[in-house]
Amino acid sequence: MASKKDFLKETIKHIDIKKHNVVKLVDDMQNMAFSARDLNRAARIYDMMLNDKSCAIILTLAGSIFSAGLKKVVFDLVNNNMVDAIVSTGALMIDQDFFEALGFKHYIGTPRSDDNLLRELHIDRIYDTFIDEDELRVCDETCAKIFDGLEPKPYSSRELLQEFGKYLDKNGGPKVDDSVIYAAYKKNVPIFVPAFSDCSAGFGFIIHQTNHPDKHVSIDSAKDFLELTQIKLNAKETGIFMIGGGVPKNFTQDIVVAADILVEDASMHKYAVQITVADERDGALSGSTLKEASSWGKVSTTYEQMVYGEATVVLPLIAGYAYHKGSWKERKPHEFQKLFIEEKQTA
Ligand SMILES: NC(=O)c1ccc[n+]([C@@H]2O[C@H](COP(=O)([O-])OP(=O)(O)OC[C@H]3O[C@@H](n4cnc5c(N)ncnc54)[C@H](O)[C@@H]3O)[C@@H](O)[C@H]2O)c1
Repeated sequence: MASKKDFLKETIKHIDIKKHNVVKLVDDMQNMAFSARDLNRAARIYDMMLNDKSCAIILTLAGSIFSAGLKKVVFDLVNNNMVDAIVSTGALMIDQDFFEALGFKHYIGTPRSDDNLLRELHIDRIYDTFIDEDELRVCDETCAKIFDGLEPKPYSSRELLQEFGKYLDKNGGPKVDDSVIYAAYKKNVPIFVPAFSDCSAGFGFIIHQTNHPDKHVSIDSAKDFLELTQIKLNAKETGIFMIGGGVPKNFTQDIVVAADILVEDASMHKYAVQITVADERDGALSGSTLKEASSWGKVSTTYEQMVYGEATVVLPLIAGYAYHKGSWKERKPHEFQKLFIEEKQTA
């Protein structure tokens, strides 16, 4: 009889953009066509964002990209002052980043699996990647433990993600050296997860709220939107770097409209890049073009670029290009987390 150990052998290794100087490769794509030329323009626009002293950069994340080996790329962007705020799905931040910070791994698997056998062995599959379901349960329970330790009241997801960073800090630090939550905590980069219950944290919430039916921690989703809008209002210019689509994409684009409701003539996002596999023909959000977003007053069309490709291939090239160009070395960190901490202290 097969055992778990037969399947969970080889771990996913996160790609290290610092090791690969892709500047010349990406530069030469400028004289090609199709996706290569789009990718080149997207990389140059991201580099422009980093060179623009007045621009705050918001990174949006969707898809199962951390379990696929892209976690260190995002860690390097945070650690090297190449992003100022993150808007993400919960799966990426909790089920994948926090999960690995607890010492658990993602494993190389195959889509040609016997999924019934995997179910029997408590192994979950994400296309060609395996996860130990029992370890995910520990992650759920750790979320509940974190909520148990907080004052019972509604929180924004940013406040809760900050608490996750604090938890790692108080418990000997993350068990890996590339935790995005921990790096963001240390660098005062706020992380927003607009659908925070739709992941391991949601399981933590139901454990916590069932055990504390009268007084408990809950999510204030409107506060998330207001806080992210406050970042927009605080920054002179903004650029958005979107990996995949989904809720993080729309949430981040909508803060322009929100800012415009709160003050007169709020500026659109000056720069916008999106990597996506979604098609514009389905009329849905994930594939809607940035050109289309400009009709809603969300994105300026001067510096926008869609790249149609899968993120595990495209992101290391764009992020690697910007890293090796080195424009980030001259950037001052925005440290938007302080905006909320200082606001609280003066209240
Ligand atoms: N993905 C998971 O493994 C997972 C696990 C648990 C919970 N969830 C929850 O499900 C919800 C949806 O999240 P999601 O991550 O599945 O996003 P999603 O499937 O809604 O992604 C949005 C879009 O992004 C694009 N995209 C996704 N992966 C891409 C890639 N590798 N390259 C290029 N484009 C890509 C696609 O167009 C996709 O339609 C979230 O609330 C999340 O927390 C997801």
